[in-house]
Amino acid sequence: MSKEIKSVNYGLEKIFEGAQDFLPLLGTDYVEFYVGNAKQSAYFYKTAFGFQSLAYKGLETGSKDSVSYVVVQDKIRLVLTTPLNSKSPINNHIVKHGDGVKIIALWVEDARKSYKETISRGAKSYMEPTVETDEHGEVVRAGIYTYGETVHMFVERKNYNGEFLPGFKKWESDYNPTPVGLKYIDHMVGNVGWNQMNVWVKWYEDVMGFENFLSFDDKQIHTEYSALMSKVMSNGNGRIKFPINEPAKAAKRSQIEEYLDFYEGPGVQHIAVATDDIIGTVSQLKARGVEFLPPPPQAYYDQIPNRLGEHKKMMKESIDDLQKLSIMIDADEEGYLLQIFTKPVEDRPTLFFEIIQRMGARGFGAGNFKALFESIEREQAKRGTL
Ligand code: FE2
Repeated sequence: MSKEIKSVNYGLEKIFEGAQDFLPLLGTDYVEFYVGNAKQSAYFYKTAFGFQSLAYKGLETGSKDSVSYVVVQDKIRLVLTTPLNSKSPINNHIVKHGDGVKIIALWVEDARKSYKETISRGAKSYMEPTVETDEHGEVVRAGIYTYGETVHMFVERKNYNGEFLPGFKKWESDYNPTPVGLKYIDHMVGNVGWNQMNVWVKWYEDVMGFENFLSFDDKQIHTEYSALMSKVMSNGNGRIKFPINEPAKAAKRSQIEEYLDFYEGPGVQHIAVATDDIIGTVSQLKARGVEFLPPPPQAYYDQIPNRLGEHKKMMKESIDDLQKLSIMIDADEEGYLLQIFTKPVEDRPTLFFEIIQRMGARGFGAGNFKALFESIEREQAKRGTL
């Protein structure tokens, strides 16, 4: 049974009764994408999203089979990787899925123990504990598969003080666009197939010691045409949150089905990144060419004072400013949140980003689901995939 939202506490102490501590997670370490052209992807994330050059691995550093660019903004590290020849297994991933997230890396104290504990609970191995060293120390990494071909990599870096990982060199660049205020990854959402949501909820409970603290069924998440179901999984300290979606039957094709068709299987649907100033961040992103979903109708903005209730008093942003930028707003018992969603950032209608600013609220914008999904459906209709 899912927990009441009120019971969630994002402090450092354990938040769930009986929460498992066999897999303490310190945070998200990095997110690695397999892409068709890492050099150009890195340019996109620097130019459009304000990431900074951090590290590089390629022919010049002795990496013969693949090239990786690492970009950073505050606590968010993205790794963009492309194979350098047709024999690399990375090609198969790109051929099947297009550009997308391969690795969600989790920062841990002890990678060997994290691997052992999860494997003993049924995880499928991706990479056995591996020690990598250079003049800056050593890093231990180990990986397990989650949904589809997606991987959780445990990264232990307490004995390392280099830029990123052994094998990478510092990437010095003369091109350094200013950051846009993205701070950390708030949550990452996975799309899985029909009747698979509860399978993966159980997997996160059994293998990772996570708990399900919010659930939305198709009666809550639907429009006139389509529906989906979602359960939010969280680790014990609340730093890592993975909502899991599956499609639900309705008159037309669910956006989750569209994703599964184009990604050709389960995978990461969106990465939500937090900002302290969503108006500044989104203004910058729009000026730099990031495309967002079309705005909700006027009626949506007219209803905001009602929906916010007493939180309206603490609201610092003007509704006019939010509407100009198509930013959405939702409230729960504890506060409000502001959010907006990009269009897919790949050619296939697969991965997209969410920009989120939490003003006390710990939910996921359930009050916005209908307006959001109607907006997505208008995009699906243009693609002929509704
Ligand atoms: Fe989200």
